[in-house]
Amino acid sequence: MLKLAVMVSGGGTNLQAIIDAIEDGRIQNVCIETVISNNKNAFALKRAEKAGIPAKCISPKDYEDRDAFHDALLRVLEESGADLVVLAGCMVVIPEKIVRRYENRIINIHPSLIPSFCGKDQYGLKVHESVLARGVKVTGATVHFVDSGTDTGPIILQKAVEVRQGDTPELLQRRVMEEAEWVIMPRAIHLIASGKIQVTDGKVIEIQ
Ligand code: GRF
Repeated sequence: MLKLAVMVSGGGTNLQAIIDAIEDGRIQNVCIETVISNNKNAFALKRAEKAGIPAKCISPKDYEDRDAFHDALLRVLEESGADLVVLAGCMVVIPEKIVRRYENRIINIHPSLIPSFCGKDQYGLKVHESVLARGVKVTGATVHFVDSGTDTGPIILQKAVEVRQGDTPELLQRRVMEEAEWVIMPRAIHLIASGKIQVTDGKVIEIQ
């Protein structure tokens, strides 16, 4: 059984996609041990509560400095016994000490086809604003392992989404979530839980 710790910051629709996929069998041999939010008002916490999943808020505001916050985060992750840390709409920059401790065991969902429209300042709605400003015809989402860079870790899965005439950032964000994020995040977790994902020379290989 693969134990997950899911880190959230906002609406929690990716968390909900994982919960639903476990429920309907698209993800097997996985258990969400804990949900951790840096934002006490995150609706994702309500989703966890409704699903009966232990959840807690670890907010940087409650610690005297960044280091203390990171130590608290690491402690909670270790106490959860998580095998895999899932960043699902998580806005916290994961510190080096946690990345090292969970090498190739932290995954993140980014709302573009990496390496396009990613890196510092490219998150949430800003990504879709950049996509529309550039006029690309195809965008999408990426699930990748987290390394010490920003959106630079080995790519696990990607899914393309069409950009339509008249799209607003909000319309595009919703389509990318519905057609890509909520599909590839559960699938990536299922593949990892099934032992089908291997990282070699910084590239992900799916074992058939
Ligand atoms: C999503 O677009 C996700 O790609 C980004 O944050 C947004 C909200 O995610 N990281 P969620 O609804 O909180 O899962």
